[in-house]
Amino acid sequence: MGAVTSTFIAGVELFKKGLGSPVGSLTQLQTIRLGKRYENRNPLIKDFVPLASLSDLVFGGWDLFPDTVYEAAIKAGVLDKHQLEPVKKELEAVKPMTAVSDTAYIKNLKPTHFKKAKTKWELAQAVIADIESFKKKNGCDRVVMLWCGSTEVLPERASIHESLDMFEKGLKENHPMIPPSMIYAYAAISLGMAYGNGAPNLSCDVPALIELAEKTGAPIMGKDFKTGQTLMKTTIAPMLKARMLALTGWYSTNILGNRDGEVLDDPGSFKTKEKSKMSVLDSILEPELYKELYGHYHHKVRIDYYPPRGDAKEGWDNIDIRGWLDMPMQIKINFLCRDSILAAPIVLDLVLFLDLAKRAGLKGIQEWLSFYFKSPQCREDLKPVHDLFIQHLKLQNTLRLLMGEEVLDHSGLDYYDPERGTASPAAPPKPAKSKKQLTTAR
Ligand SMILES: NC(=O)c1ccc[n+]([C@@H]2O[C@H](COP(=O)([O-])OP(=O)(O)OC[C@H]3O[C@@H](n4cnc5c(N)ncnc54)[C@H](O)[C@@H]3O)[C@@H](O)[C@H]2O)c1
Repeated sequence: MGAVTSTFIAGVELFKKGLGSPVGSLTQLQTIRLGKRYENRNPLIKDFVPLASLSDLVFGGWDLFPDTVYEAAIKAGVLDKHQLEPVKKELEAVKPMTAVSDTAYIKNLKPTHFKKAKTKWELAQAVIADIESFKKKNGCDRVVMLWCGSTEVLPERASIHESLDMFEKGLKENHPMIPPSMIYAYAAISLGMAYGNGAPNLSCDVPALIELAEKTGAPIMGKDFKTGQTLMKTTIAPMLKARMLALTGWYSTNILGNRDGEVLDDPGSFKTKEKSKMSVLDSILEPELYKELYGHYHHKVRIDYYPPRGDAKEGWDNIDIRGWLDMPMQIKINFLCRDSILAAPIVLDLVLFLDLAKRAGLKGIQEWLSFYFKSPQCREDLKPVHDLFIQHLKLQNTLRLLMGEEVLDHSGLDYYDPERGTASPAAPPKPAKSKKQLTTAR
């Protein structure tokens, strides 16, 4: 219930009252092209797939501190008091449940609002009880859990992460390599709920919890919301690669002054974040295939906690590139962004899409939601896809598939030579077979 969560909830409560606009949200604003270009079928995504409506959403959560969402929003300082005023009552009503806390995993905070239990197993059962009572109290048909808590120190991978049996044994024996974010994930997934992870924490990205998700039919996805600098990186790097421009070095630094920045000031938490931020370039540029262009570039990522900036993060990127005859050039990016303003629409889209995935019977890792993550979870034997535009195509094509529409490959040859295409230009669109099924399951 920190900056991201309070900004997200405040936004949705404002939209419910017809105030403000959900800028940045695909589920609310984006259209999707269906069929051939001349068919002119471009519905809004929210009209194409049966998503839950904003007016049906209710919110709950846990925090290490007892502040209501209103107090948290005021402290986070992302939105002004006057912007929050119309929804003050709604935000004050959302009080955090006591958290699962472990100060070994978050060093720079001093929690005051947490559960006491003998074992991690008991803590997981307490979270399960919280979810069930929240559901009952609010009359919810369905629930989705999204981790928007702080970045934890990365646990060492241990044998208890490898199978569900071992993990449950680890919970009962208080194994030190089970951080709080894994306990929440275990609780949600064991109830078959969709679970997403907005931090770089391992959380549900271990074989034991993937096994549990397959077993209970829970859709899961992580890690780490892709917002500021990495959003830029995964936009610019595919361009360099598409144009076969060489990279000599990429230096990224940013300053931020919110609680996230304070937590990341601890070297353990920073290491977790750094790992998540560093992996993207290699995966996009594939130095193993393009040794000459990308085999030796220097990549540096820095984050500095600088309180005066609050949530208004500033990022600088200096990119040294080479062109024809290896001539050096530079690109500079200075992104004056607002962290939680970029993250809030991602939270909304993930809640709605993960809920859709659950109703559509999709379980386990939801790679089609990679679009939203810095360090997208995928099968262990696959490389994650980081290129923002491939991720976007993957997301839209998955929606088309779910609704029985033609998947677009964008080759476009059949516009000019019908024999080359899979469908004739005059072919009518296929009936949306699964639409009825999804709608009735709502
Ligand atoms: N643009 C972004 O803001 C962005 C982008 C990518 C990832 N993230 C990640 O999202 C997370 C949230 O970011 P934020 O800016 O809202 O941070 P924040 O510090 O404002 O909020 C995090 C909240 O989590 C609480 N918390 C920590 N451990 C907890 C636990 N075990 N149980 C319950 N509550 C716990 C903290 O008390 C705090 O209120 C961070 O991990 C951050 O790295 C944010």
